[in-house]
Amino acid sequence: MCGIAGYIGRDQAAPIILDGLSRLEYRGYDSAGIAVYDGEKIHMQKAMGRLRVLEEMTQHGATLPGFCGIGHTRWATHGSPSDTNAHPHMNEENTIAVVHNGIIENYAVLKSRLEKKGYRFASETDTEVLAHMLTEYYRGDPVEAIEKVMHRVEGSYALGIMFLDHPHHIYAARKDSPLVVGEREDGKFIASDVPAILHYTRSVYYMENEEIVCLSNEHTRFFNVDGESIQKEPVTIDWDIHAAEKGGYEHFMLKEIHEQPQAIRDTVSPRIRENEIDLDDIGLDEEKIRGLRRISVVACGSAYHTGVTGKYVLEELARIPVEVDLASEYRYRNPIYEPDSLTIVVSQSGETADSLAALRDAKAHGSQVLAIVNVVGSSIAREADNVLYTWAGPEISVATTKAYSAQLAAFYLLALKFAQIRGTVTPERFRTLLDALRRLPGQAESLLAQKEKIQYFANHYLATEHIFFMGRGIDYALCLEASLKLKEISYIHSEAYAAGELKHGTISLMENGTLVVAVATQDALYPKTVSNIVEVKTRGAFVMALTTFKHNDMEKCADYVLYVPETEGPFMGSLSIIPLQLFAYYVSLGRGLDVDKPRNLAKSVTVE
Ligand code: AGP
Repeated sequence: MCGIAGYIGRDQAAPIILDGLSRLEYRGYDSAGIAVYDGEKIHMQKAMGRLRVLEEMTQHGATLPGFCGIGHTRWATHGSPSDTNAHPHMNEENTIAVVHNGIIENYAVLKSRLEKKGYRFASETDTEVLAHMLTEYYRGDPVEAIEKVMHRVEGSYALGIMFLDHPHHIYAARKDSPLVVGEREDGKFIASDVPAILHYTRSVYYMENEEIVCLSNEHTRFFNVDGESIQKEPVTIDWDIHAAEKGGYEHFMLKEIHEQPQAIRDTVSPRIRENEIDLDDIGLDEEKIRGLRRISVVACGSAYHTGVTGKYVLEELARIPVEVDLASEYRYRNPIYEPDSLTIVVSQSGETADSLAALRDAKAHGSQVLAIVNVVGSSIAREADNVLYTWAGPEISVATTKAYSAQLAAFYLLALKFAQIRGTVTPERFRTLLDALRRLPGQAESLLAQKEKIQYFANHYLATEHIFFMGRGIDYALCLEASLKLKEISYIHSEAYAAGELKHGTISLMENGTLVVAVATQDALYPKTVSNIVEVKTRGAFVMALTTFKHNDMEKCADYVLYVPETEGPFMGSLSIIPLQLFAYYVSLGRGLDVDKPRNLAKSVTVE
């Protein structure tokens, strides 16, 4: 996820653009750039690092005089953070400049075609393809060139574009990545999000998918992807600035819970082409995958929990033995390495000290290391042999949600790819699972509509001192994460238990009114989990069950039932977690706590 800002009007553009970008840094901050028409040329400056590097380099915009410009703050997806990979990207003639938020899923094919036509690329980014494609299709009409590019590009994009032939205009277009247009008496604005322009105007147009806009001092014109003019009505924003950074959500955590469908989509879609999974970037050829005798997954916290789910999914589908370790334990237990094995290190931040140390230990013993990481260019990403990036975008809230869901999706891709190559699933089963994977974002979206119901239930348990989560198989792995979410933001003691294990001791803690959350989405284990529910209810527990719609008989034994849509068993965790993230969120909210910055915690634990 990146931040885009643009301005055209009576004032100097660069200071306004830099100010707008500074209000979008929560969207990405590994590099930044700006391009301004200075009366003769499009003058561009870019810098790796936080936005202040660019601010200092340009003396807060003073070195870029002009009244029309675009800017960008980057969250890298393709190409590590660097000056060259920073946006804007220009064509070789420096007559077209582009800033982009999103992922061009078919950029490799488009880049290859353009290179064959003689276009030379300066960066590793997917975005630069757009600058050369606009050059290819530009015949004097910017909107026509933009339309042609939009018809050929797959993926998500919010674009800001300048054409030297049209120096007093800014163009923008969007598909699946947000983009707003602002207007006031003496200026026009584009931005990824409202916070960037709220200081200047509260009159905003929300761009819809496949819309184009042309801004000049004289007019604001909208077009559809066929070049037809369209009418749009401005919206008056009544948020305060602070709320606006969260897109209108009260907390980043709630915003990021709602971003999960897109995080799953952005992690999965670019890697599925013509019903095949393309994981060429993980450095494992088919022979290596067939010969794999063991996988070790090493991580901390929620990333560890995705590894527990990953174990169940990889073993069920690809029939590869998987060990999962807490990184803080792994690095001191003198692990046994053997040939034909793979170590997977999972980390949102890519900077967790224990996970980085475990990675180094594995590499020192000759193990091939694959990292599943959200931050491009982070330490774990740089030191791993290969990286499978989760494209969840910046995650601000300390309690991870969308990165966790994107990590699960990454494991599904690996398990499916490995299973297909090892022949442990039939082609029909592979296709069924692949279709289920594609449907996950939409199903996750539908679950978000239950938030009021979950908030109502959560408000009855604000004073609870102990909450137990139980489940079997993948449901148990899910309980581990649900319990951690609740603990870290509500400060309520909670435990996650394999449902079949309760009777071996912990059931002694059950008494009248003890809240137990039972997760029962795995059909083969459903009857067993129901019997565990009866066991705890017999001892006075109040049971909130989470299951799929077809198991409505659950109403006979649980006190409160939350239903989730059904998908293939291995992927159910991606749906079950959403109501339980919301449960944790609303309990924390109801207890008046700082949801995004819980006490004693940090977003990335870079110390032992
Ligand atoms: C998750 O909500 C926690 N904030 C924490 O457990 C986190 O998952 C853990 O510290 C690992 O962080 P990483 O994914 O950045 O390595």
